[in-house]
Amino acid sequence: MNTIPSPTPSLADRFLLTGRVAIVTGASGQLGTAISTGLAQLGASLALVDVDTEGANQLLRALPVEEGQRHRVFEADLTSKSAVRTLASQVEGSFGHVNILVNNAGIGVFTPSEERTEDEFRSVFEINLGGTFHCIDAFRELLSAHGGSVINIASVYGIVSPDPRVYGDSGRNSSEIYGATKAGVVQMSRYFAVHLAPRGIRVNSVSPGGVFANQAKSFVDAYESRTPMARMARADDIAGAVAYLASDASSYVTGHNLVVDGGFSAW
Ligand SMILES: NC(=O)c1ccc[n+]([C@@H]2O[C@H](COP(=O)([O-])OP(=O)(O)OC[C@H]3O[C@@H](n4cnc5c(N)ncnc54)[C@H](O)[C@@H]3O)[C@@H](O)[C@H]2O)c1
Repeated sequence: MNTIPSPTPSLADRFLLTGRVAIVTGASGQLGTAISTGLAQLGASLALVDVDTEGANQLLRALPVEEGQRHRVFEADLTSKSAVRTLASQVEGSFGHVNILVNNAGIGVFTPSEERTEDEFRSVFEINLGGTFHCIDAFRELLSAHGGSVINIASVYGIVSPDPRVYGDSGRNSSEIYGATKAGVVQMSRYFAVHLAPRGIRVNSVSPGGVFANQAKSFVDAYESRTPMARMARADDIAGAVAYLASDASSYVTGHNLVVDGGFSAW
């Protein structure tokens, strides 16, 4: 009996990113470093984007480089539409194509809402929502050429309010504008999932819970006691979710918000 080879790669192969080019914004930061490292371990070439090029160059030197893989650092302030347009031409000139865009750069403010300044309000809005929008807008042509995956990093605080009992008087209570922008990132992801599907681009969001970064013990204890899995997130918990959405293992997933919070928002 003739056996007809299956045209479908194995599931393990569908997780691989060999030959793919991935842009990671905010690459120098805590999650950007873990996400970039994870995607590079799966074979992708990385365009590391940040205003902090010193940090990005440090990361560049630590990334794995197998045959056919190369990584580059790009400096761009994502709040500027024209800077992001320039970035898109630089990335195209350097790599020729792009398959994955991870909109990870983001900021928060922690002052009480009664003290919110216009500058704080504007800057959180401009980077978290404006930067995400500018990148999708500038890279959509390049992404559509080979079929693309966009992953926007939102937050559990785009879904639930911070619980003031976790923060006490630590001064670290997450803000109303941060959560509002992250809810906006989830919704913007759904919008583009629908509108870019005909161009072969999938768009999803990942909503991380609080990531451990040597915060004060009192805060960590309070956060963990509020979390069903009784621990804060590790950066590589988030990288795993991003890698899945970047890869062909998620080829029929679009418009989804993948919550990675140890159950924080489940009760
Ligand atoms: N760390 C957490 O607990 C947590 C939880 C939920 C969601 N998030 C989200 O994950 C993402 C990454 O968070 P992180 O904790 O790694 O933050 P981080 O501060 O460690 O890194 C953010 C990076 O973005 C860069 N950046 C800021 N403004 C920029 C701009 N205008 N242009 C280009 N780059 C800019 C910074 O230089 C920095 O390298 C953010 O969107 C954040 O809101 C983080």
